[in-house]
Amino acid sequence: MTTPLRLGIAGLGTVGAGVVKIVQRRANLLAMRSGRPVVITAVSARTRDKDRGVRLGDYAWEDDPVALAKRGDVDLFVELMGGSDGPAKAATEAAIAAGKDVVTANKAMLAIHGQHLASAAEAADATLRFEAAVAGGIPVIKALIEGLAGNEVTRVMGVMNGTCNYILTRMEHGHLGYDEVFKEAHELGYLEADPTLDVGGIDAGHKLALLASIAFGTEVDFAGMEIEGIERISIEDIEQARDMGFRIKLLGVAQLTGRGLEQRMSPCLVPADSPLGQLEAATNMVVLEGDAVGQVVLRGAGAGEGPTASAVMSDVMDIARGSRISTFGQPAGSLSKPAPAKTAAPAPFYLRMALQDKPGALAKVATVLGKAGVSIDRMRQYQHSHQPTAPVLIVTHKTTREALDKALAGIDGTGVVDGHPVAIRIEEV
Ligand code: HSE
Repeated sequence: MTTPLRLGIAGLGTVGAGVVKIVQRRANLLAMRSGRPVVITAVSARTRDKDRGVRLGDYAWEDDPVALAKRGDVDLFVELMGGSDGPAKAATEAAIAAGKDVVTANKAMLAIHGQHLASAAEAADATLRFEAAVAGGIPVIKALIEGLAGNEVTRVMGVMNGTCNYILTRMEHGHLGYDEVFKEAHELGYLEADPTLDVGGIDAGHKLALLASIAFGTEVDFAGMEIEGIERISIEDIEQARDMGFRIKLLGVAQLTGRGLEQRMSPCLVPADSPLGQLEAATNMVVLEGDAVGQVVLRGAGAGEGPTASAVMSDVMDIARGSRISTFGQPAGSLSKPAPAKTAAPAPFYLRMALQDKPGALAKVATVLGKAGVSIDRMRQYQHSHQPTAPVLIVTHKTTREALDKALAGIDGTGVVDGHPVAIRIEEV
């Protein structure tokens, strides 16, 4: 009889319960595929007496996840508690110190402590894996580390927060304002306990920082990321961008260029007919580009019980099969210190402004743009009967953010635009 792989699961929320269900229901399949039984020996959660819809009676119970992580009958510690520090980190460190392998879905913990934890795991000859931390059920870590192992990765992009994509697409289809849809998302239970993690771009930023580390062989650098959320996106921008052939997405982009490591998580316009532009509701999409493979597009559920548990089980099964892949695809000590790019790659921008309807107003704006070196690609003025200002949209040619900021300051000084113009980057995808 082959030795079983014994799991200790800390955290029995939606994902934890999903993992227990798969281990119980698919026991034969898992044993056949990995060559050994995969069993649960012990579990831990904040509350013991709660109906989670799964049988837990056969497993030992620990109130303290650190005690669970150290148990002699646990080979693999599955961390599904969440939170960058506190019990999740303490228990992960305890498991590693005890020489146990760890599988986690905790993006926040890895985005902040990934380098330290990966180094500790290697020193202890333990494996630390995190497929479920990025884009839920999409096997993107596996695709990057294994599938693209022969490529120099040139760019990683993605819509990796389902809640934000739900809000943006629901605003568009329902012709609704941000606040109304935010409330709706809250009622549907889509938002994290701290909603700024979602709408502020932080959750998606954590995920992008992890992908960038694998893609470019650099230490995780969440602090070096430029992050902007979707809170200021208006229905006007969504509809007018659409009218110009674009959709607005909370898009993460990471690339390593001569300027350094560029990591951005921000609202961007993407062509409406591109794969990213066609992404609806709470679905995630990750686009990987490599010098040999070209572009690979992965699409799927970014959250939820089944998809996230599926990703956890991918790591569990790898470990059951004896795979010892490094956390970020190469030894932690060989990851280089990233030099964050000070400026983003030039790009076209979408500008929207309320222009006063008087002679010469448009000419003043065009002059300011020209003086800043920003060239106009397309322009549209909407009908505005009975209104003192005309909504004007401009799509620029590729420009630097520096030149654009100079132009925006100049436009503010013209006195012919009400309020500040909206400027959103257009990403070439
Ligand atoms: N809150 C995330 C989302 C899922 O909406 O995609 C967990 O990372």
